[in-house]
Amino acid sequence: MTIAPIEPALNEVSVFMEDVLQEILPEPAGPQARVIEAMRYATLEGGKRIRAFLVLQAGRLFGVDRRALSRVAAAIECVHAYSLVHDDLPAMDNDDVRRGRPATHVKFDEATAILAGDALLTHAFALLAAHETHPDPHVRSDLVLRLAQSSGFGGMVGGQMIDIGAKGTLDDIGQITRMQRLKTGALITFACEAGAIMGKASTQMRHALTNFAQDLGLAYQITDDLLDVGGDPAVMGKAARKDQKAGKATFVTILGSERARAQAEMLANQAAAHLDVFDEKADLLRGLVSFVVNRRA
Ligand code: IPE
Ligand code: IPE
Ligand code: MG
Ligand code: MG
Ligand code: MG
Repeated sequence: MTIAPIEPALNEVSVFMEDVLQEILPEPAGPQARVIEAMRYATLEGGKRIRAFLVLQAGRLFGVDRRALSRVAAAIECVHAYSLVHDDLPAMDNDDVRRGRPATHVKFDEATAILAGDALLTHAFALLAAHETHPDPHVRSDLVLRLAQSSGFGGMVGGQMIDIGAKGTLDDIGQITRMQRLKTGALITFACEAGAIMGKASTQMRHALTNFAQDLGLAYQITDDLLDVGGDPAVMGKAARKDQKAGKATFVTILGSERARAQAEMLANQAAAHLDVFDEKADLLRGLVSFVVNRRA
């Protein structure tokens, strides 16, 4: 089977999501305008929108309305943008450049960046809980619950805690895998699962998607770690060669680049195999798998 390149579909999603995010983010007004400006700065005009793409494509498998999916996609992009704003803070990775521009705390200031991250996180839950997202309140509460689980202490935040405390303490591949599953994998998994929740998919289909997403998420972070070592900062829009300097334990520091790449490719194949239960409607998800491991940014 030949899978068409997915760049045109990813670009279409980026353009579509820009309009959606413009609409769902508040307009700067009142004495708190500065924090709203920082929320918009961190979220608009940037990023590959992989998580939004996953929500839209997974939901499409179950015939879910794109407008409704776009609210969930926007919520996840808000949480992701918040995670990057806080990740770049001096107290965390201390990075000055994000998405080819000054990081939010550089453009504004640290306090504003912290508050903008907080506000993006809470705004995401407001989006999911609103009636327009889905008429069934059980679906809405399931979305809220799973976003909370995947972004909090048992998900992204938990992974970030292990990541920053990990200097020299994570020394086997099992520990790194567990950290990355939380740090990056949990939100990517929720992005795929959200489409299944919205579409009230069968348990079997939902599991196929979560298994797909877990392997994809891990392949995604291994590629991020490889790009940190071998990528071009001008293409990536963020600094490179920071992980080792910061004493970070990554797949690359443990396995070396060659074995880390082989691991990412093995996971990508495994991810694609989980899509076998779906018909050609899953072809863009199949295409995303090779994009994820071959990306330069
Ligand atoms: C960067 O995420 C941080 C990781 C979790 C690896 P992305 O590579 O998805 O960042 P954007 O959204 O495209 O900027
Ligand atoms: C960040 O991982 C993952 C998040 C949850 C934000 P990294 O620290 O490796 O991401 P980059 O390399 O700064 O984008
Ligand atoms: Mg980090
Ligand atoms: Mg970082
Ligand atoms: Mg990185």
